[in-house]
Amino acid sequence: MLDVGIVGLGGIGNNHARCYTENKHSRVVAVCDIDKERADKAASLWKAKPYYSVKQMLKSEINLDACSVTTAGIENGGDHYKPTMELLQARIPVLGEKPISNDVNKARKMVALAKKKRVPYGVNLNHRFTPSAVRAKEWLKKGRLGELNIVNMTMWINNPNESTPWFHIRALHPHSLDVMRYFAGDVEFVQAFFKKGKGRKIWSNVQANLLFKNGVIGHLTGSYDAGGSYGLETLELVGSDGRVVINEACEKLSFYPRFSREVESFDHLGGMGAFPETFQSRIGVWIDDLRTNTPPSKIDAKAEDALRVQLIIESIIKSWETRKIVKVSQG
Ligand SMILES: NC(=O)c1ccc[n+]([C@@H]2O[C@H](COP(=O)([O-])OP(=O)(O)OC[C@H]3O[C@@H](n4cnc5c(N)ncnc54)[C@H](O)[C@@H]3O)[C@@H](O)[C@H]2O)c1
Repeated sequence: MLDVGIVGLGGIGNNHARCYTENKHSRVVAVCDIDKERADKAASLWKAKPYYSVKQMLKSEINLDACSVTTAGIENGGDHYKPTMELLQARIPVLGEKPISNDVNKARKMVALAKKKRVPYGVNLNHRFTPSAVRAKEWLKKGRLGELNIVNMTMWINNPNESTPWFHIRALHPHSLDVMRYFAGDVEFVQAFFKKGKGRKIWSNVQANLLFKNGVIGHLTGSYDAGGSYGLETLELVGSDGRVVINEACEKLSFYPRFSREVESFDHLGGMGAFPETFQSRIGVWIDDLRTNTPPSKIDAKAEDALRVQLIIESIIKSWETRKIVKVSQG
């Protein structure tokens, strides 16, 4: 049984707590929030001890096997750095939320500290923890699609937040770009255009072209001015022998063979109903990685992957600002 802590008890921290509580291999023993009311409320909900700072939690008698960091802050990632560094310094495995940070230099420091301390550090890049994505990856590996040529991703939600110019790309698109990397690997070059939505001050719409290191080409469409009946996300993999489409992360998986009309399609593969269930599956994999002593470098959706998607995001921003194709930094 893993004894787990949660730092940051907003909606998402409580969601992590529910997933750990429902998993038979873990339980929540400590909750920590600088907002006392939130910590106390979560403590009574999850039958855990409340703390009001990470330092206080680390000084207590509680021995943590792992800790989620579900703080938010600027661009939903500005507050992760301090508690994450404190936990990693104490050699406690961390599952952070996305974006790993809105500041790539801080993300680099967190990744470097985890590496130095040899501590597992994962990020909740949950959109690819679906039976549909796993099946599609198996098909790709076995050659069912032939040679992969194109990866297209559309991800959008209604989000009226106007806090910073780059909030949309930095806060939402760690997810979409992580799914794209899952299938096609590292990205070498990007070129992007942005548009501000009607009446908006921020860059709430994006179209980005990607050239992966292996020569695959990809396209990301993103928006904070869409959603509702538009859905959440669509992934398309186009190969020389077949095309795969995944709708809404887990709701529909389809295989279209190039040389036949016989389309194969699954609704809710593996019984996964809708996107919110990806939290349970991602946290389940994190728990299994810890239970099986997976080496930190082999942790699924590790912090380094989250850093790499932020580096792609910064290159996308730079491309728009400079009106140029930008080479993506690899670390
Ligand atoms: N993976 C997903 O699908 C998904 C979906 C939505 C949000 N998120 C991410 O989840 C994170 C949390 O989102 P939220 O909506 O719950 O945020 P929130 O602002 O409601 O909650 C964050 C909490 O962290 C606390 N906090 C901040 N700094 C702290 C510190 N140093 N120590 C202890 N507590 C601290 C705050 O007091 C607050 O209660 C964000 O990074 C967001 O991007 C992920």
